[in-house]
This record gives sequence, C-alpha cells and structure tokens, in this order.
Amino acid sequence: MSRTTKAVEELTPQEAAEELAALAGEIAEHDRRYHGEDAPTISDAEYDALRLRNAAIEAAFPELLRADSPSQAVGAAPSGVFAQVRHAKPMLSLDNVFSDDDVRDFVASVRRFLAWPSEQELAFTAEPKIDGLSMSLRYEQRRLTTAATRGDGTTGENVTANIRTIAEIPDELPKDAPDIVEVRGEVYMRRDDFLALNERMAVEIGRVFANPRNFAAGSLRQKDPEATRARPLRFFAYAWGETSEALAETQYEAVQRLGRWGFRINDHMAICGSVDEMVERYRAIEAERASLPYDIDGVVYKVDRLDLQERLGFRSRSPRWATAHKFAAEKATTILRGIDIQVGRTGALTPVARLEPVTVGGVVVTNATLHNEDYIRGIGNDGQPIREGRDIRVGDTVIVQRAGDVIPQILDIDPEKRPAGAEAYVFPDRCPACGSHAVREEGEAVRRCTGGLICPAQAVERIRHFVSRNAMDIEGLGEKQIEFFFNHEDPALQIRSPADIFTLKDRQGSSLTKLENVDGFGAVSVRKLFAAIDDRRSVPLSRFLFALGIRHIGETNAKRIARHYLSFDALRAGASEAMMPQGKGDPGNAQWQELVGINGIGSVVAEALVEFFAEEHNRQAVDALLKEVTPSDEEPVGDVSSPVAGKTVVFTGGLERMSRDEAKAMAERLGAKVAGSVSKKTDLVVAGPGAGSKLKQATDLGIEVIDEDAWFERVGQ
Ligand code: IVH
Repeated sequence: MSRTTKAVEELTPQEAAEELAALAGEIAEHDRRYHGEDAPTISDAEYDALRLRNAAIEAAFPELLRADSPSQAVGAAPSGVFAQVRHAKPMLSLDNVFSDDDVRDFVASVRRFLAWPSEQELAFTAEPKIDGLSMSLRYEQRRLTTAATRGDGTTGENVTANIRTIAEIPDELPKDAPDIVEVRGEVYMRRDDFLALNERMAVEIGRVFANPRNFAAGSLRQKDPEATRARPLRFFAYAWGETSEALAETQYEAVQRLGRWGFRINDHMAICGSVDEMVERYRAIEAERASLPYDIDGVVYKVDRLDLQERLGFRSRSPRWATAHKFAAEKATTILRGIDIQVGRTGALTPVARLEPVTVGGVVVTNATLHNEDYIRGIGNDGQPIREGRDIRVGDTVIVQRAGDVIPQILDIDPEKRPAGAEAYVFPDRCPACGSHAVREEGEAVRRCTGGLICPAQAVERIRHFVSRNAMDIEGLGEKQIEFFFNHEDPALQIRSPADIFTLKDRQGSSLTKLENVDGFGAVSVRKLFAAIDDRRSVPLSRFLFALGIRHIGETNAKRIARHYLSFDALRAGASEAMMPQGKGDPGNAQWQELVGINGIGSVVAEALVEFFAEEHNRQAVDALLKEVTPSDEEPVGDVSSPVAGKTVVFTGGLERMSRDEAKAMAERLGAKVAGSVSKKTDLVVAGPGAGSKLKQATDLGIEVIDEDAWFERVGQ
C-alpha cells in the first residue's frame, strides 16, 4: 500500500486522482475477498477507514469521482435480493424528440395514424419529465399490495417494504377508487435533500452519490426498509397500469383524480391545443428548470383523450400517443489523451476517446465514442464535411456531450488549443486483436475485421452479448470472467463459444485446477455462477434469437420474428428454406415472402437471418447450443380470444374510419397477422372503395371479403 497519508486538504489534484485510483482497486480487492471468498484480509475498521478516506477525497474533489469508485456501487444489495414481479401491463418507455420540428412531426404522425383532419381539434398534455425511477404501485381493494420497479418493462423487482416507508405514498385509497388500480409515476429525491444528505453520507458511511437519481435508486434497493425510511424519497404520480374501471375520459382528468386520492401530482402540467402551444410550454418549463427543487430532463407530451390513446396503442417499447421532448444535452471541455480501437462482435472497429476525466451534467466521463474513422477525419455519414472539416487529434481540447443514458460523444475540438506537433490520427487497417485485415465495404463508414472466427475479440464480444442482460441474462459472467475463461490454457476451463458456457460445470471435473481455487472465484461465487447458468437452460425464443447476435437482429426484430414463427424449429426451417430474390422481378420463394411479410422486417434483416443459417459453422454452433438450451415457444401475442386471432388479414382499397396503419395495429392487437398480398394463406380480405387486383385475387381464390364496417362489427369495436 503506497498511499500518502496527507490530510485531504493538502492533496494536489494529481495526488488526489492517484489516490482515488489506488483506493478503487484496493477496496474492490477487499470486497472480492470478503464477498467472493468469505476470506477478508483486513478488519472491518480498516476497511471502513479506506472507504471514508475515499469519500473524503471525493467530497473535496468532486470532479475526480471515478466511474468505478467504490462509493458508486449501488446499494449493498445485489440484484436477486428482491423478488421478481411481472407487471400486469408492461411499463413502457418513451420516444425522444429534440427539436420543435420533431414535435411537429410527432403531432403529424398522431394525426396521420388516426386519420384526424388538420382542422379537427386534438389536445395534448405537457408536463415535466422527472429524472427519477419509475414505479408501479398496485392497489387491490384500495390497499397498497405491491410496489415494483420498472425492471426490463415486463418484470420488475418487488420493493413494497421500502416503498411503504415513503410518507407521501398513500397506503389506502378513498372509496371512489376502483377495486384494482396500478398507479404509476416517478420516485425521486429533491436536490436540497440530496445535497444535505450526501454530505452526511460521506462522513458517516463513506459513500457519496453522483446525483439525486442515483441516490434515490440506491435508497430503494436497501435490504433494510428502515434504511430507506431515513432517505427523503418522494413520488410524482403521472400514469397508471391495470385498472378495473376507467379513471376518466382524459389524461388530464385522470391525473387530477390521482391527485384527489392523495398522490402528489406535478403542478406544471398543462393542456395544449397546438404544436405552438406545446413548444411554448416546453420553453416555459425549460426556463424554470434551474429553480425547480427536483431534476427534470425534458417535457412529456401525451394525447389528452384516453379513447384516442387506446386507438393509437403501442409500438414495441413505447406508446404512439406520447413522446418526451428532451432538453439540450450537457457539454463540457476536456483533453483527448488517446484513441483506442474496440472490436465489436460483428468485427466493427470503433474508435473510443480516452479523456482527461471531466464532469458532464453531474457524471464523470472518461471515455466517449468517436463513431468511425470518417468522423475523426471530419467527414459526415453523407460524405460531406462536418465541424467545418476539422479532424480530431490526440492532445486536442475537445467538447464532450452527454445526453441522458446515451454514450458520451466528442462534438468538436478547439483548433486554437491544438498542441504543436499533434499528428493526424491514422486509423488502423488491421484488427488490433487478431491482426487480420480490417476493411471498409463500399458505401460503409465502418471498418470491419475480416478475422471472423479466428478473431478472439469478436468471439469474446459475441459471448458478452450472449450473456448480457437483455439476451440470456447470465449473471456472474462479466467481461473479466469471460476473458479469463476464453484465454484459459486448460481446455476443461475454456469458454470459446456460447455452448461451452453450459458444459463448463461438467467439464471442470476433469481439470487439475479447481475453479473455486482460482483467484477471483471462490466457492460461493462458483456455486452462484453454475446456478445462474442452469437457470437459463430454458429461455423465451425471442431472447434466444437476440442472444445469437445476428446482424440487424436486435431485441425488437428478434421479438417480431419469434412472435411470427413461435418455435425455433419453425423459425429455422423458414429461414433455411427462404430463397432471396435473384435479381429484378424475382420475388423470392414463398418462405422469403413470409419472412419479409412480417411486420417491420425488411429485406436487409431477412437477408441477415437467411445468411446466418446458410453458414455451416453457425448451424454447428446453434446445434451445439440446442443440446444445452431449450428456447421456449413464444406465446402468440394479442387477444387470443378475438374472432380474428390467428387469422391472416389483408387490407386493400380505401379505408374511411381509420388509417392503414391504425387498421394494421388494430388487427395485430387482436391477434391477427396482416399481410401485404393475397395468397392461399389469406383468411380474410377487408376491401374498401377502389380495391383492384387484390380483391380480384381474393375472389378467385374463394377468400372471404368484407368491407370496413363489417370489419368493425366483426371485431366488436
Ligand atoms: S409517461 C407509457 N410521464 O420517463 C409511458 N414518464 O423515458 C409512461 N418519466 O419510464 C411514461 N417523467 O420513468 C411519463 N411525466 C412523465 C414522466 C415519465 C418521467 C419517465 C418514466 C419512463 C421514462 C421514459
């Protein structure tokens, strides 16, 4: 331990930074010995002294707060302490817009979807977007039964005991509240409470939080509700989940009603009748931002009429009837110390800026993305100059921007501060991990490693993706562990492919080194790791597909594809048999048509899927994996009891009561599949005025044809 023992006030910033770095490493090591191995090497008092010293330096040099600081580890409670709760209705997120024009586009898209003429009135609410944590409070027979965090939107954590300690959340609702209601809103901490308490925390327990939001999160995750009680948490109600009866006819009225039940509601909520009024509200709230006692990061607009919200419905993650107008991102100036190249799972080389640490909007930033080599050279995606053509060089003074949870980026440089002798950055044409050529394909901004299967960086990234939270979600396999297993010399302890993860437990028996004796593991963590792995031997099909890491198949597309084929066998058969169009005029075969007929799936995604299954080594990897893991069949989505559930419907000709998009969304909500063309698989054709060839085809094939009114009658709406 080579630390100075100077008083904190006497430290120079340089010494403080060095000591914080040393403390972060040291405390992490003690944590590991204590939790991972149950074998601490220092006394509790010595350990506390280290944490206190760390907090004291951080309090004196807040700009040096490290991302890996021990004070930033959220709560003592690892995930898994709280029971899981499945939300009766998913907790969605919001789309973001950034400019007045975006707001105009949002309103136009709502009108288009509803086929709502421009002269007809359409009101929106506008209210601050609170920077806290969303929470769902379930009341049954007017008593609070469950409080759950958002989690992944479908399943959250049960934090009821902690929520009950928040004084301003009612335990009981008045008589006029429905039998079942889930009140949703934001748990947050006021800025003044945060500042006062953070100072006390630094002294008392050696932990400080970067901002009120993190503090609120840490407070909610306390194992002991009494610890939560000591934290001044608050709650704004602004939405709801399941309700046994409608709350009101409009958003505004519904929220007022929540207010009458005793919830705090935001008094900056207003109703706006036009884009101009919405933008005006946004400016007014922005102007008040600094003087509000709590943090906000934008303004949320919601269609006021609840019947229209119902018609607009949802996309995969967010409602069509709401959007968040974010405030401009925060910026700061710092120095670019170096540029590293990261290799992703698809081989893309991404330049990452290593920065002199700087605080941007309350968070310390040390890394930022530089996007790609053109970006560094001052060339935009369209081939045109950006930053007036200025390139970015190591040593430059740079402007960093951080917007919400997005990875920080370098916006520009200060040309006057460029040090003499700074050289233009030369982007490598070889992969830094495997030495293979890195090439740029025609029209692509990204340079990719051509090493494919031999590139260790790609393999490691594929495994990291495979185990990540929204994919297979295997806990205990972080970056370090994956690299450890990947590089291990003993084959019994190697993980080189996803399937290897699942055979590790059986294989390690034949190893001379016992995993639990390996530095960094220990009996407890090994047991936990194997339990976490075994827990994921059955996962939903959409997760499994996403985990495979096929290009262009992110979570949303994985869900779309999984929900269409429902089982892995059907999906694989469909993708393996699909034949892409060979040149103009060739529509591809029926399997290809089926694939590109899935809502939201275009030819680029379809091609990536087909190519994946065409590769022998991918098929082998999948086969090996299927010996270990069983993807569970996807449940058909939508209302399975509706009269059109499971049917394939084609809309053709003009529609008068709704837009084409709304028709499609409605059919899908009712469990039907919507196809673009008529075939033998079509069950129903809804034809409006002016229908032509599709109507004729349907008649020829003897498929049932109805008009728009009959459609509404049939689905009972
Ligand atoms: S409405 C279905 N209103 O923002 C949409 N959300 O980025 C329900 N948030 O997860 C959300 N203030 O945690 C809504 N006034 C507000 C909000 C708000 C903050 C959060 C919420 C949500 C996130 C989406």
